[in-house]
Parts: sequence; structure tokens; C-alpha cells
Amino acid sequence: MAHRLRVAEVIAETADAHSLVLTVPPALAATFAYRPGQYLTVIVPGSGARCYSLSSSPHTDQDLKITIKRVRDGQASNWICDHVRAGQTLELLPPAGEFSPASLDDDLLLLAGGSGITPVMGIIKSVLAHGRGRLHLIYANRDERSIIFAGELAALAGDRLTVTHWLDSERGTPSPASLAALLAPGDGRKAYICGPELFVAMACDALQQAGVSPDLVHVERFEITPEETADATLEVEIDGQTHHLPWPAGKRMLDVIIEAGLNPPFSCRQGHCGACALRLLRGKVDLVNNEVLEQEDFDEGYTLACQAVARSDEVSVTYY
Ligand code: FES
Repeated sequence: MAHRLRVAEVIAETADAHSLVLTVPPALAATFAYRPGQYLTVIVPGSGARCYSLSSSPHTDQDLKITIKRVRDGQASNWICDHVRAGQTLELLPPAGEFSPASLDDDLLLLAGGSGITPVMGIIKSVLAHGRGRLHLIYANRDERSIIFAGELAALAGDRLTVTHWLDSERGTPSPASLAALLAPGDGRKAYICGPELFVAMACDALQQAGVSPDLVHVERFEITPEETADATLEVEIDGQTHHLPWPAGKRMLDVIIEAGLNPPFSCRQGHCGACALRLLRGKVDLVNNEVLEQEDFDEGYTLACQAVARSDEVSVTYY
């Protein structure tokens, strides 16, 4: 269920990235409690539900902070950067996500590309303030001016946090081999990667080349590629009623249902927990991520609303 939170402050982090500081009223403190690295979902007028990572830490920051970078032609990020001012309220869903270390005492490798630093920043602040872990951050950006949180990172760097900046302007675009060269071979630390799709793929390759076991690698991905998905119509049976909803290409089914003001079940929104499962009656969908449904579930028609994108003009689903 969405709640309205007040924007206490808007911080221009770089020319194209803004942070929104959000005040949580005491009555919603438990609802908006979070782990470092999780994200909030903002209901953006005209664009629907969008996930933005929390750059704040529950261990060091009183308010919530999300950081949004403008995406070229990205309606939602541009609307937020152009229109949201201190004093306004925004409609938000509570924190969610699994990009959060199990222990703040673990040593971690952190790989961030551009605005992928956002959840990583929350993790860094929490580990330094409340854990014993030692951190190595590799942070890739176009140039010096596009580094988000440059000052904060410089202030936090020290014994337990090493920061390696990769600037395309100085070293060219990174490759798996050039990133792997920054890592100790056979590094046994858990790794957390967040950034644009290309960076994530490259960082995964780099970790593999450096001999890091895939079991230790955690990735945060929000982006989906709208290509190969189609604008569709979604027929959904929920709470005793049938609704027909327009389903834009690339958008996830759960977001379409939430934006229509309906109240679907969900929890992780990452394809891990199965809380959003429902039955496909007609049409075809693809799941962006699935770590919970087995073939026999698919055989019975189950799918995950939080991960489903449309692959046919008409899709019909039911929560019964
Ligand atoms: Fe957890 Fe969809 S909400 S799998």
C-alpha cells in the first residue's frame, strides 16, 4: 500500500543526479524501516511505479534518502529532477529489495557504475558505522564531474574503506580484464554490483576472471529492456472484480496493477519470494528474473507479477 511522505530537502548531487530526503512520520516508522541497500518505489504521476535505491543508511541517517539520476528520455527520472521540490509530498511504497549484506561484519567488494553507487553508499555507511567489515569500492564514472557522493566517499575512505575510481575520461571505457586487474586473484569476499546493464555484465565477467565464485556475487538490476516486449492489454481478476488495464511495453505486471489503484500482494519485488504469484489464464509473458517458481508451477499456470513483462497483445491473469 502506498503512503505519502514529505520531501524535506532536494540535494543536487551532480548536474544530472538529485537526492530527495524524505521525512517519515512516527506512525510510519515501522513501515519504512529498511536494511542498507534496499529501495523505495515512487509512484510518479504519468509514469507509474519506479524503484529508486536508498543512499541513506538506517544506521547513520535519520531520514530516508533516495538518489535519482536523469535518464535520457526517461519520463520518470526527468519529472522527479524537474518538478520535485522541498515541502511537496510523494506517494511511495515501503522499502523492499535483497541487495543488502547479511552481515555488516563481512569484508565486501563493491562495484558501482554511475548511479549504481546509490545502494552501495547505504551499505558503506552502515558497515563503517555498525560493523567490522573491510570494504573495497571500485566506482566507474564517465568523468570527475559525474561522480555522485565524491566528497562523502573521500571523507569515509580510510583503513576500512578503499576507494578506486575508474574514470572513462582518463582510462577509457573499462573492460572485464581491466576491472579484473583491480581485484586480488581468488578474492574470497562477497561482491555487490550495481550499475547500468553493461557495467553489471562487465563487472560479473571481471569477478569471474578474478576467480570469485558466482555464489558470492550479488547484483542489483532494475532496468529491463523494452525491446521484444509489446504494448498489451492486461485483464486481471482481483478482489472479486475484473479489470482491463493498458500494459506498456517493458513495464512489469505488478507495477501496472499497483498503478491502477488495485491492491495486489507482493513482498520482495525481485523474483525471490513468490508473494506476487498469480495464474496466467491467457497470453504470454516473460519473467525478467525467477528464483522461486519451478517447472511444475509454470505447468499449473503460475507466474510472478513482479517480474512479468508482456509478450502477447492480450494477457489475462487471476489471483484466484
Ligand atoms: Fe517476491 Fe514477486 S514479490 S517474487
